Amino acid sequence: MNKKQILIVDTDPGVDDALALSMLKNLNQKLGAYEKIIYSSIGGNTSLKNTHQNMLNILDILSLNYDNLLKGSESTLLGEKFVDAEHYHGINGLTLELQKKSKPHNLLETYEYIQQLYIDKKNVEITLLMLGPLTNLAKALISMPEISSLIRSVVVMGGAFYVSGNATKYAEFNIYADPEAANIVFRSELAIKAIGLDVCQDVVINRNKFYDSQYLFTKSKNSSSKFACSLIDSFFKFHPDRSEMSLCDPIAVICLFHDNEFVYNMQEVIVETNEPKRGLTIPLNKNGNVAIATDLNSIKVMNLIDKSLT
Ligand code: RIB
Ligand code: CA
Repeated sequence: MNKKQILIVDTDPGVDDALALSMLKNLNQKLGAYEKIIYSSIGGNTSLKNTHQNMLNILDILSLNYDNLLKGSESTLLGEKFVDAEHYHGINGLTLELQKKSKPHNLLETYEYIQQLYIDKKNVEITLLMLGPLTNLAKALISMPEISSLIRSVVVMGGAFYVSGNATKYAEFNIYADPEAANIVFRSELAIKAIGLDVCQDVVINRNKFYDSQYLFTKSKNSSSKFACSLIDSFFKFHPDRSEMSLCDPIAVICLFHDNEFVYNMQEVIVETNEPKRGLTIPLNKNGNVAIATDLNSIKVMNLIDKSLT
């Protein structure tokens, strides 16, 4: 019997997370492959309180449909406060002030929801799009390893496998924010596609191209395009010295729906948890479960992002 397909989008909005969510608004045909779409928050770019509120506000502005909302972990796997990246994403995690959507109560924590899917044995298969620290998935795997049998595949935006990091010179931010969680996930034998900084450098929003309306979405009148434009405008105003805006999370969305636009190197991966290289993602030069994206068709991927924001 065909299994019920569930997509869980785990996100720490964050300006590029917000663009990734805007893309999903226009990818409803691709989303049609899933019977349930679930959005989960996680701490990372800013506190969970802020990322959760940002997620609610963005879903509301975009009128993005969903079947469930989940609240992620308040702290890292070790119970520590998340580091934040508010210097980049803005105070409270976004450079754009959004209307505050009221918070629903009694949401399950993400790992509890995944556990419940297993306990209910409802013949489901889960695809995970991980756009922030990997804490929620690690908590689910540690507390109930059997949930692996439900997980069809995982797309992770995270890691710096053959390039320097962005949180430190060794570590990419999502991994650096919770290296213990990332170690659990990468070593879990799950089918993982990893979009690391290795493939984020050539696909960006260019300030001049944006303000010269050289992107299709800048000419679109629909709500998600207008939201994306407001967000990008606010980002460049917050960062007057930056000529580019990274699109790491949007690239992960393209990997989920167009994985043939990337070149992969199958590796076993471990994560360094001790300083000074804490958060370093280490391919072991052994064939393994992690498909590390080492290259991409950058023009095609940028066009796909532009189109899905239009
Ligand atoms: O290193 C980039 C990643 O860290 C992106 O997911 C960004 O949103 C931040 O979470
Ligand atoms: Ca993110």
